[in-house]
Amino acid sequence: MPVLVITGTGTEVGKTVTTAAVAAAALAAGRSVAVLKAAQTGVRADERGDADEVARLAGPVTAAELARYPDPLAPGTAARRAGMAPVHPHEVAEAAAKLATEHDLVLVEGAGGLLVRFDAAGGTLADAARLLNAPVLVVASAGLGTLNTTELTARELGARGLELAGVVIGSWPGAPDLASRCNVADLQEVAGAPLLGALPAGAGALPPTDFRAAAPAWLAPRLEGTWDAEAFRIREAP
Ligand SMILES: Nc1ncnc2c1ncn2[C@@H]1O[C@H](COP(=O)(O)OP(=O)(O)O)[C@@H](O)[C@H]1O
Ligand SMILES: [Mg+2]
Repeated sequence: MPVLVITGTGTEVGKTVTTAAVAAAALAAGRSVAVLKAAQTGVRADERGDADEVARLAGPVTAAELARYPDPLAPGTAARRAGMAPVHPHEVAEAAAKLATEHDLVLVEGAGGLLVRFDAAGGTLADAARLLNAPVLVVASAGLGTLNTTELTARELGARGLELAGVVIGSWPGAPDLASRCNVADLQEVAGAPLLGALPAGAGALPPTDFRAAAPAWLAPRLEGTWDAEAFRIREAP
């Protein structure tokens, strides 16, 4: 799995924190890691982007981003408003493929959810994943509403012939409500793919050394961690 595309059921679901955890677990397993933020929106030139945040939390990764647009909008819209060139899916795929020749693992983080548009032609992260023939990891929120957005995302991946590697819960609450607890079992059902981890709420605020030490315990063996989905489901079941 040299390239793994990381999308989410929406924005602010924990894609960046999850990308950092996957990177940290891979580093701990002795692998070299690159992180590619396809298009960074909503930050100025002097601010830290998602790729920088992954490097801060996870440690020595190659961090790259293809474009940066100031408005916090979908990349295609933000590029148009800024009068800047958009990022096309083939550019994302080419950059990821190049990084894959130099690293054991390349993590490609999208912007927002799967069908957020990158260019005027309607190109998306799904198109980049198709060009790369790469599996896709879906980061989902824990609570009410996540079953619908997760199933929609899984169905779109399936319709495009893309492999859904699994689902990671981006932020698992310290005191999960009924919906969150029921979702542990239902998420893998609606996704038709395994649950591959759950990051505790507050993980992104941990000191980086603590984050790196704990990350493997949040992720399943497929992501080089030690997290046990079945034990988690039983423990959190209502
Ligand atoms: N497990 C978590 N622990 C701490 N903060 C989190 C966690 N998941 C998400 N967040 C916070 O929620 C916000 C969105 O997370 P982020 O990973 O940037 O989402 P996305 O990349 O999907 O937009 C950020 O402010 C981040 O710090
Ligand atoms: Mg992000």
